Amino acid sequence: MVQTVGLLLGLALTLVAVVLHFARGTGWQAGEDISREVLERRAATVPETDFPEPYNRGVGGGGGVPAEAIAAGDSEGELEESEEESGFDPEAIEEVEYYEIEFAKEGQTIEVANNETILEAGEDEDWDLPYSCRQGQCLSCAGHIDDGPAEEFVRHSNNDTLSEEEMDNGYCLTCVAYPTAEFTIKTGEQP
Ligand code: FES
Repeated sequence: MVQTVGLLLGLALTLVAVVLHFARGTGWQAGEDISREVLERRAATVPETDFPEPYNRGVGGGGGVPAEAIAAGDSEGELEESEEESGFDPEAIEEVEYYEIEFAKEGQTIEVANNETILEAGEDEDWDLPYSCRQGQCLSCAGHIDDGPAEEFVRHSNNDTLSEEEMDNGYCLTCVAYPTAEFTIKTGEQP
């Protein structure tokens, strides 16, 4: 009797295994991949800007270092050009140097470090200097360097506002301008 039950049980299990082996599943199929479409729709909702955005669209988005420059850009010329276009990082300055800057309207000459902005240095003196965005994106803080083209006297960590010509004429953005030489500046002067 026990043998018969065991035999029947074995047969039943074998039958179940055979049925499962030939079963065709539920017929479910994966839907179409729409992730790219969703990303494109999201991208379309982000407004385009006219000015370059050096730090928030790193690759292929209208600012920063182009992908090709990263891939192929190991010559010095290309690196220098990208710094000019996207500014520089003042926190990377290792050797701090000081320059005598004359603030013509304030009637004083003060020492300004090459890792602080002209605006910050003036504010440390308690001068009420004009500013707004403090990011190089407006003209509120503009000043005029009397000694020549601005780029010979300051480096901008970011500049979305002034043209080459305006900088050649001595204008700088004091909120993002770090001194590289001594000069005289008139604050509150816009091109
Ligand atoms: S405060 Fe806007 S550019 Fe300096």
